[in-house]
Amino acid sequence: MLAIAILAAGKGTRMKSNLPKVLHPLAGKSLIDRVLSCTQGLKPNHKLIVVGHQANLVENSLKNHKELDFVLQQPQNGTGHAIQQLRPRLEGFNGELLVLNGDVPLLKEKTLSSLLKFHRESNASVTFLSANLDSPRGYGRVFTDESGLVKRIIEERDCTNEQRKNKLINAGIYCFNWRELLDVLNLLSSKNSQNEIYLTDTISLLKKALHFEVDNPFEIKGINDRIQLSECEHFIQKKLKSSWMRKGVTFVDPISCSLSEDTTFGTDVIIEPQTHLRGKCNIGNGCHLGPGSVITNSTLAENVLAIHSFINEAKIGNNTSIGPFAHIRPESKISDNSKIGNFVEIKKSFIGEGTKINHLSYLGDSTLGKNINIGAGTITANFDGKNKHKTIIDDYSKTGANSVLVAPIKIGSHVTIGAGSTISKDVPDKSLVVERSKAIIRTKIN
Ligand code: UD1
Ligand code: CA
Repeated sequence: MLAIAILAAGKGTRMKSNLPKVLHPLAGKSLIDRVLSCTQGLKPNHKLIVVGHQANLVENSLKNHKELDFVLQQPQNGTGHAIQQLRPRLEGFNGELLVLNGDVPLLKEKTLSSLLKFHRESNASVTFLSANLDSPRGYGRVFTDESGLVKRIIEERDCTNEQRKNKLINAGIYCFNWRELLDVLNLLSSKNSQNEIYLTDTISLLKKALHFEVDNPFEIKGINDRIQLSECEHFIQKKLKSSWMRKGVTFVDPISCSLSEDTTFGTDVIIEPQTHLRGKCNIGNGCHLGPGSVITNSTLAENVLAIHSFINEAKIGNNTSIGPFAHIRPESKISDNSKIGNFVEIKKSFIGEGTKINHLSYLGDSTLGKNINIGAGTITANFDGKNKHKTIIDDYSKTGANSVLVAPIKIGSHVTIGAGSTISKDVPDKSLVVERSKAIIRTKIN
């Protein structure tokens, strides 16, 4: 039997934030999400999350995880106090309790399985992850006897100067024998510099306490402040970009770019400086992105060029050119061989093959056919103050510069619209339409 408890009730004082610490994002995913995802394959009988400070926000962020059982810790009197709150939920439970700190987000599931295996084989009362750090600042220090049994964990702020030199630290990830832990949970006191009930004090009370050193100390990095948050972000980003560079993606200046883990690339993609990919993006072979583009939850087919542009929840076809300074908004589909040029905004629109929208336009709620030329400054007036309306333009039509298309409207195929026209009724196929007042020219008096 296995139970998992994730501690996520703390105030996160050192973050100096209105957002609960465990909800701060790291490469687009919250800390708590990351901790949770490394327990996925462990198949526990119970999955408990201890919440307290801003409990509603934390619970809400995890509402899609139906398997979770939330335990309220009120007030938050320390990590030992948090575990004391589990007693009613784990009544009669007989097995291991795996405790994870909600602020240790880089942990790997493999490490947890190794910890469990080691713990079970050694028949210990508790086994916890440890690491030998060059700079152990901020962590509890681990003290062992000659036989390797752990005698005590002392929090850094409670250490003497001598004790603080110890570089063996507690990672905050424990596997307890629940029955044995239960026997000592009552004995904890809050006689320490923070007046909190420390889970780490159970170690000296338990019969057989072991530590299990991790291979890569970065994996157990805890996040207490925003400096550590940025160090973890840097770690993830470096790993992601190196892995894609090995698979054939060029980053001209990797340090200035960021990726999400859910982004995939084809081969011979070039990423120029200041380009960011967020959420779930699929980038096809030969795409050239940036400098200065931000692409979110979008699919780009092959050989797409996107310079200084924002593409959000859109699908972009082969051999298209986007930007500079274009904004493609959600639910847009841009078909093959088309061009979206400077200062063009597209919202919830379908753009057919070979269509060109080169300069200064807004197209919203529109369906455009193929090989259309949209003149500079063409605008769809899609909003009447209350509702959005559709614009349809059929194949091979052309709009003149500064055309306004007042939706709902349908422009047929092979239509030409004269420059400066405001069109508010449907235009049949193969027509020329101009709506413009006559210019009045007079001789100036002075
Ligand atoms: C803790 C450990 C320390 C270890 C470090 C590893 C204790 C006393 N110390 O210190 O030995 O080196 O983690 O990162 O456990 N929490 C609650 N309820 C509370 C207090 C905290 O749920 O009342 C949660 C926090 O939300 C956080 C986790 O427990 O996710 C750890 O708390 P934190 O205050 O960050 O502990 P550290 O000082 O880092
Ligand atoms: Ca911490």
